[in-house]
Amino acid sequence: MKSSAAFKNSNLSLFADEPETPVSRRWETEDAVDDRPIAQNPPPPPHRPTSAVPTWLLRPLQSQVLKAQHDATTRTLVSLEEFLGRPLHAEAGFILYNRDCLEALRSLSGSRFRTQLTVTSPPYNIGKAYETVRGLQDYVQWSVDWITAVHGVTGPTGAFWLNLGYVPVAQKGRAVPIPYLIWDKTPFFLIQEVVWNYGAGVSARQSFSPRNEKWLFYSVSHSQYTFNLDDVRDPNVKYPNQKKNGKYRCNPLGKNPSDVWQFPKVTTGTNRSSKERTPHPAQFPLGIVERLVRVSSNSGDVVLDPFSGSASTGIAAVGTGRVFVGFEIREDYCRLSVERLRRFRQLRDEAERQPSLLNDDLGLSELY
Ligand SMILES: C[S@@+](CC[C@H](N)C(=O)[O-])C[C@H]1O[C@@H](n2cnc3c(N)ncnc32)[C@H](O)[C@@H]1O
Repeated sequence: MKSSAAFKNSNLSLFADEPETPVSRRWETEDAVDDRPIAQNPPPPPHRPTSAVPTWLLRPLQSQVLKAQHDATTRTLVSLEEFLGRPLHAEAGFILYNRDCLEALRSLSGSRFRTQLTVTSPPYNIGKAYETVRGLQDYVQWSVDWITAVHGVTGPTGAFWLNLGYVPVAQKGRAVPIPYLIWDKTPFFLIQEVVWNYGAGVSARQSFSPRNEKWLFYSVSHSQYTFNLDDVRDPNVKYPNQKKNGKYRCNPLGKNPSDVWQFPKVTTGTNRSSKERTPHPAQFPLGIVERLVRVSSNSGDVVLDPFSGSASTGIAAVGTGRVFVGFEIREDYCRLSVERLRRFRQLRDEAERQPSLLNDDLGLSELY
């Protein structure tokens, strides 16, 4: 996260991917005709690459965590295989099935399989390469069906983090937040909505450029759910030494990260592609999933992603000592996920051999 001080005397906006409008031209909106030759427009700021894997995910796990992860994987595999057969891939901390999640979750309804946490982003029904567009009612019903099926396999203190975008609704709205259509139609209890704000995205002329998506934070129980706040505190505190009545005002581990999070999107394109980018077109930033996995689960817990994609949830789960269970309908995405996991482990081994690399996020990424 950038502090405003870092940008005080610079010509950059808060977000590195976006050139700020010079002060003298701020009266002009995007609708105004801009007839400057392109070459005279302010040059975009240099691309700041994200790292392939945030270094906190590469720190070595203690041996008892590795053992808990290994044992939990074995137990989880036994409960899954009885109902679903063998996965496409399984190794310590990572189990991936190449199949339709709704059909798989329904098959598991009578099983002992339970997840502590689900982190996912379904297709948004907007015609991406990996989806079949449905009518709106059909999409809402399908969403209710798979979320209800996730609820059916979630443990009593479990959580469900759901990332959703926007859809057009005929005669009603151009870009309606999907949460408005489904938020209360499932058995989960809504704890809160978190806004994920990012710096780059599509531009707009007749509305503000969209720069956020929502995360809905649900639980099974209204009051009993895992929430490891100290594991995800934000150390970027403005006045860490401020005291009241002789006591520090701020937790020494940092502040509550609040319900507005800034993480760059995983971008594509020449000179601007994120280091963590795989060929999958809709990846989660690993930083976000890592925060969710830490706050809502403990080591040895099962973390599910029914729309696994490139297995970002899987990398975050493995890297923090959890057991990932993923469903992904496309075999090519499953294959790239297994390859991504292999490279992640390579990078991790390298960091274990050379711990000094953990101090240099970008240097380490070069090894990827
Ligand atoms: C928005 S993407 C998820 C991307 C993922 N969060 C990541 O970081 O890579 C949705 C994924 O769900 C998959 N998918 C679509 N329908 C599915 C279904 N019925 N069962 C399982 N996977 C499905 C798509 O192929 C796509 O990879």
